[in-house]
Amino acid sequence: MRKVKIADGVHMFTLNVDNVLFEGIWELASGVTLNSYVVQGEKTAIIDGVIGWDGVPETLYKSLGEIGVDPKGIDYLIVNHMEPDHSGWISNFMKIKDDFTIVCTDKAAKMVSSFYGEDRIRVVKEGDTLDLGRGKVFSFHLVPNVHWPDTMYTYEKSTKTLFSCDMFGSFGKMGDHVFDDEMTPEEDVFFECEAIRYYSNVMTTFTPMLRKAIQKARELDITTIAPGHGPLYRNNVEKIMDDYSRYSQYAEGAGKNEITILWGSMYGMTGKAIAHAETILEREGIKYNKLEMPLESESEMVATVFKSAGVIIAAPTYEYKLFPPVATALDELGRKKVSNKAAFRFGSFGWSGGAEKELAEIIERNKMKWDFVPSVEFEGSPKEEDLRKIEEGILQLIGKMKGKIVE
Ligand SMILES: Cc1cc2nc3c(=O)[nH]c(=O)nc-3n(C[C@H](O)[C@H](O)[C@H](O)COP(=O)(O)O)c2cc1C
Ligand SMILES: [Fe+2]
Ligand SMILES: [Fe+2]
Repeated sequence: MRKVKIADGVHMFTLNVDNVLFEGIWELASGVTLNSYVVQGEKTAIIDGVIGWDGVPETLYKSLGEIGVDPKGIDYLIVNHMEPDHSGWISNFMKIKDDFTIVCTDKAAKMVSSFYGEDRIRVVKEGDTLDLGRGKVFSFHLVPNVHWPDTMYTYEKSTKTLFSCDMFGSFGKMGDHVFDDEMTPEEDVFFECEAIRYYSNVMTTFTPMLRKAIQKARELDITTIAPGHGPLYRNNVEKIMDDYSRYSQYAEGAGKNEITILWGSMYGMTGKAIAHAETILEREGIKYNKLEMPLESESEMVATVFKSAGVIIAAPTYEYKLFPPVATALDELGRKKVSNKAAFRFGSFGWSGGAEKELAEIIERNKMKWDFVPSVEFEGSPKEEDLRKIEEGILQLIGKMKGKIVE
């Protein structure tokens, strides 16, 4: 666990976490950080006190000691969001100290009680304040459904710091650099990619609420954004707000000028058509990504489709339905409410077909409203005529993407 001074009396503790299935689903090739913050006035508060993945807070206690904070001297636990990646240490903290106050929203209070059996709680409402003394004053701002119903921002007035919890977060482990203005150009690219992964994996279902939360942040006078995961922003706090705003558009059909080929093929018949599609995309100068299902991780699949303005679904019929790993991926995108993507499907069948019917059912059931150009299905191996139709479909898809590109 690393300690970083953010301002006088404000410290961050950050921990890189590897080999974790985040939320029990997301395989993160580049890991994630868990950040918590300590603010010292006359009283001491800890915001989103993380401790690693195993629920043992000794590393946090040791790090607190290194900046002269006795864990037993903590007065307030500010729980911006009850999810255990931010609050999991409470049950341990209860064992070392009994006179502290948890500060959270009413929705979080109910969960603090049901998850940890704890009721030393001060419930805060929109705009409530907490004065720690020595000039450190918090105000609290509710941002429900980012991504749990209980979530709030904590804002410290003297340093103009927004402790935004999951909002404005990103995946990816941090090296020596933790502030946006310290990052190398390579780290900028890395964290943009990891922020997209984070938004698409964790947040995208709640896009309308995230837009409200972005607006709420814009109304505060902020010099530093200090999230619960990933880098801090102090050079240009607008940038991450604008980025999140752009990601909210990706959730609803916009995307980078890229096509993602979401594909699966048992014996290479659909694969032959994919090879042809690639030559067309190369000829047209369109960047494309290939995701072979089920080999690709769920995290990578959701993030890559999410950020693309166009999607090609290349998959055959299997037992009268769509090739299952591709059907499952589409269902996951539907659950995440990734909507309005420009799309095109082609695929092989042996005798009856059926993939197309199931594709339509998945799109309908999840209210995805994807905008498809006519599909191309072929018996067995694709013939000249099929390849020509696929070329035509790709050109139409590129045409449909035109109004949706937001870089
Ligand atoms: C397990 C299995 C189930 C299949 N089910 C169907 C089916 O229900 N209807 C159909 O038309 N073809 C069915 N097929 C045939 C495939 O769609 C056909 O072989 C196609 O060319 C496979 O394309 P691929 O090589 O890209 O996987 C099935 C094939 C397999 C191996
Ligand atoms: Fe969360
Ligand atoms: Fe979190």
